[in-house]
Amino acid sequence: MAIRQKIKFRTPISPDVISTHTQKVSARKPVIDKLNFKLTEDRHDPKTKVLPEILEQHPWHWDPMKTDHNDASCFIGNWAKNFDWEGLSKWCIRKANEHGLPEKYWDYDESTGDFWHGTDIATNTPIREQALLMLKNNTFNKHNTQYFKIANKEFEHWEQPLRDLFPQFGEEKMGVSLFVQPPGSMHWSHVDTYTSFIRRTGDAKADYSRLRRYMIFPRDWDFGHFFHYGNHCMNQWRTGDLWDLKPGIYHGSANSGPTPKITIHWSGELKEGYGELKEEYGKMES
Ligand SMILES: [Fe+2]
Repeated sequence: MAIRQKIKFRTPISPDVISTHTQKVSARKPVIDKLNFKLTEDRHDPKTKVLPEILEQHPWHWDPMKTDHNDASCFIGNWAKNFDWEGLSKWCIRKANEHGLPEKYWDYDESTGDFWHGTDIATNTPIREQALLMLKNNTFNKHNTQYFKIANKEFEHWEQPLRDLFPQFGEEKMGVSLFVQPPGSMHWSHVDTYTSFIRRTGDAKADYSRLRRYMIFPRDWDFGHFFHYGNHCMNQWRTGDLWDLKPGIYHGSANSGPTPKITIHWSGELKEGYGELKEEYGKMES
């Protein structure tokens, strides 16, 4: 007992969390609800929810136990010196704090069958089946999928320099967006369908053979930051690491650490004459 007490007193306690004991500990009831569905006993195969044209144009192994894959080959190199990534990171966190309300989260409305990505309805978009797999009879919800999003004009003076980094996209056919993923939040695993891009450009049907997405981490990896790209789990990424998020590869991310995680994405249609990112830049410093 004496030892236990000693340990107890040596544990630092924040004054914010000292209990006032307004409620009897023994009277505590669960404060969460029972799941209103059964967890799957077998495996959900996400491949069956992906648009057939994406599966056809961008074949991928879809085997979670495959070890001889080359999913990590989508890493292109390090662009730490190409931009003021730390300046941008500080600016976007300040902007998120000023706003306070995460712009994006996923929400399934059981009463109507609609699902929403923030205030955008996503019911009849190409992500539909993948979203239903996660949101209907599953545990993703508006609480654990929140993130702050800054896109295009919202970048203010950062916008043009960010656009200039990727001349392979046509100016009107390109979007740049930054996500601040707060601790405790997840981007459920998916294959990109470029829904935001389609919504913005008004294209009725996307040409998945020409659409590309590139991603840069503007800050070093920190504890609890997860990103799986196919069968490759990214770890200890560095400021400026550039990834070619090739279409058709299943990916997702989560933040179980105490620090926000930031990613920036460029999405759009490749201009005529431009090839894959690796062909454009060759072997880069990594
Ligand atoms: Fe994605």
